[in-house]
Amino acid sequence: MPTMQSRANVRLAVVGLGSIGTDVVNAVRSGHVTGIDLVAAAEPTTCPTRDELLEADIPVYEHVQDFPWHQLDLVLEATSQSVLREIAPQVVREGVDLVILSAGATLDIEFLPALLELADQTGSKIWFPSGAIGALDVVRAASVGDIESITLTTTKHPSALTNAPHIENSNIDLDSISSRQEVFAGGPAAAVRGFPQNVNVAALLSLAAGNPDQVHVRVIADPNAPVNVHEIVVRGSFGTMAIRLENEPSSTNPKTSALAAQSVVALLRQLGSAQRFG
Ligand SMILES: NC(=O)c1ccc[n+]([C@@H]2O[C@H](COP(=O)([O-])OP(=O)(O)OC[C@H]3O[C@@H](n4cnc5c(N)ncnc54)[C@H](O)[C@@H]3O)[C@@H](O)[C@H]2O)c1
Repeated sequence: MPTMQSRANVRLAVVGLGSIGTDVVNAVRSGHVTGIDLVAAAEPTTCPTRDELLEADIPVYEHVQDFPWHQLDLVLEATSQSVLREIAPQVVREGVDLVILSAGATLDIEFLPALLELADQTGSKIWFPSGAIGALDVVRAASVGDIESITLTTTKHPSALTNAPHIENSNIDLDSISSRQEVFAGGPAAAVRGFPQNVNVAALLSLAAGNPDQVHVRVIADPNAPVNVHEIVVRGSFGTMAIRLENEPSSTNPKTSALAAQSVVALLRQLGSAQRFG
């Protein structure tokens, strides 16, 4: 008879102690996620969460390179597309699993295939939490048959679109928008380049469908939008799915939906237990 062995806790490091990183750290530290131990973090700026972790003797490094890799099972990236591109190869080379939030970077055609090839060699797993949307299980199942089209319409308050490269490059004056106005329509790669902090969900849909060419993205600025709205319509041989999420913005970052951090906590709960949803 095999020897009974209890599940070891998953040792987590969080990279980026901004809005999502802080929410996740707080959830783990307050005992809302069993089976996960927070053992390190990385954050280059001073912030209250960094101070709290240091006070609790949880090391916070300036650079991911300094992580105690042999003590880690899982790294959560909660930074930006450019930082993800920098850190992901090292995480995977160390054989550590990686949870990606800045999913937009995966639409860069060279980034994800190289990372997955490396992961095949080291055994790392790469996780994409459902972030600010949901129903990725339906999109993945739909892709087993034929998908005709996926449309994502994201509506945000103009203040949540400030500094987006597409807004700046197109000389769109967000302050002059007085009613609902489309500010972008196009493919997911252009969408995540133009709105790197707003439409990571376009990349999630592309990944789940396995084909970014099927995804069409619209971004709407609406001064009367009290919440971040994502409407997704998927048509295919399975039928049609239409969902609408009205997401409260995070209290600390209006570009980010509160649901994004919650989706990471939900994933961590799953990784810390024997139960899996597919
Ligand atoms: N997948 C999704 O559905 C989804 C939803 C919302 C947000 N996001 C993305 O998640 C990421 C994090 O979002 P957020 O709202 O927490 O952002 P944020 O700006 O609040 O926090 C980012 C943090 O990363 C830190 N940082 C910068 N460079 C770093 C480095 N080299 N090492 C470690 N930390 C570094 C910053 O100082 C900051 O504290 C963003 O890319 C955002 O677009 C994804």
